[in-house]
Amino acid sequence: MADLTGKRLLLIIGGGIAAYKVLELIRRLKERGVSVRVVMTAAAQHFITPLSVGALTNERVFTDLFDLNDEREIGHIRLSRQADLVVVAPATADLMAKMASGFCNDLASTALMATDKPVLIAPAMNPKMWDHPATRRNVKQLTADGIALIGPEAGEMAESGEAGIGRMAEPMAILAAIEEQLAPAEQPLKGRRAIVTSGPTHEPIDPVRYIANRSSGKQGQAIAAALAAAGADVTLVTGPVALPAPDGVTTIPVETAEEMLFHVEAALPVDIAVMAAAVADWRVAEAADKKLKKTGKTPPKLALAPNPDILATVAGHGNRPELVIGFAAETNDLVKNAKAKLAAKGCDWIIANDVSAKSGVAGGVMGSDSNRVHLVTAAGAGGDDAWPLLSKTEVAARLVARIADHFGDARPRRRDEAEAHPS
Ligand code: C5P
Repeated sequence: MADLTGKRLLLIIGGGIAAYKVLELIRRLKERGVSVRVVMTAAAQHFITPLSVGALTNERVFTDLFDLNDEREIGHIRLSRQADLVVVAPATADLMAKMASGFCNDLASTALMATDKPVLIAPAMNPKMWDHPATRRNVKQLTADGIALIGPEAGEMAESGEAGIGRMAEPMAILAAIEEQLAPAEQPLKGRRAIVTSGPTHEPIDPVRYIANRSSGKQGQAIAAALAAAGADVTLVTGPVALPAPDGVTTIPVETAEEMLFHVEAALPVDIAVMAAAVADWRVAEAADKKLKKTGKTPPKLALAPNPDILATVAGHGNRPELVIGFAAETNDLVKNAKAKLAAKGCDWIIANDVSAKSGVAGGVMGSDSNRVHLVTAAGAGGDDAWPLLSKTEVAARLVARIADHFGDARPRRRDEAEAHPS
């Protein structure tokens, strides 16, 4: 259980049936040492009473904007600022609409306007209200205003039995979101810069045709997101993929290997390079600038030219990142072949993918959500590791944990030192 002693929370309870779940949330917060001050809207008091809330918080509960006693003792401005975090639960459609448009005609909405602290809301409403275009607009606006949301979840509504999205997140989920805000997880890669390549490349034959491969970009994007979550400043250079750009990452979409190399070199210097893209080995030497016609019987002959090796270029660069990581897809002699590739490319670590039928990844690794990999390292670079079958998100998390260990050493070793004095 996280110790949040000394942390102060302003909890605004809106008028929804889910208000009863907030009593449980208050108990859990108190167990963790949080001091909880509560504002209840007029509607909230139809569902639970200030008396029961006050009994749990051990503090008086605030309800009125124009209560002279409240204003003399504390005032809505101080109320909203003497907290480390403001939480709205349940956040009704009405309260969200007020927040999105800046209305403040009661204590709850005024405190929300006056606060200079982070705000987390736990929406709860009927699924039709959640889906309504007005609520959609308000959610977008609130997110753009920097307000964090937890839930709502899918499930049956307490009052109507209707199913759909709208049920307030469970108290323990809200608690986890509060803990994350009050005591954010460590960011071991804060201050480090990283570049990740991902996805396939498309090499044009003519303006409408191209050579490509089946890479989905899932593994590379998961790594970019995990590096960003660990605090790194991440640039993701991605070939064409059908995935939304990950949050908190600078994403540069490219088509060809040459464009990918250009943007990777432009992002240097960085501390960490993870080259997860399935770069096409060849491009069409001279792509036609007009669509090739089906004239005559003989199909056109495509002369191919080799593409630059982005991983090898980065590993041999004058501005070489401290840690250069590549991928290798192997069907046999996984470790032996990966070691050879590691030496040939000059990188520090290789994530060797087992793409054989025995890997256990149904339907093959490409496009799948899981991956079985072996981390192969250069001498002195931390030791090899065989990982079980994992989701691509878990592979990313493990890799980032290893990267954080590497940079967590008292003093990062340069590659030439590591080679001279293997540990
Ligand atoms: O040589 P191979 O394609 O097996 O090497 C795979 C590793 O090299 C991957 O990390 C991939 O991103 C990288 N690579 C590259 N540029 C290329 C070919 C591969 O960065 N042209």
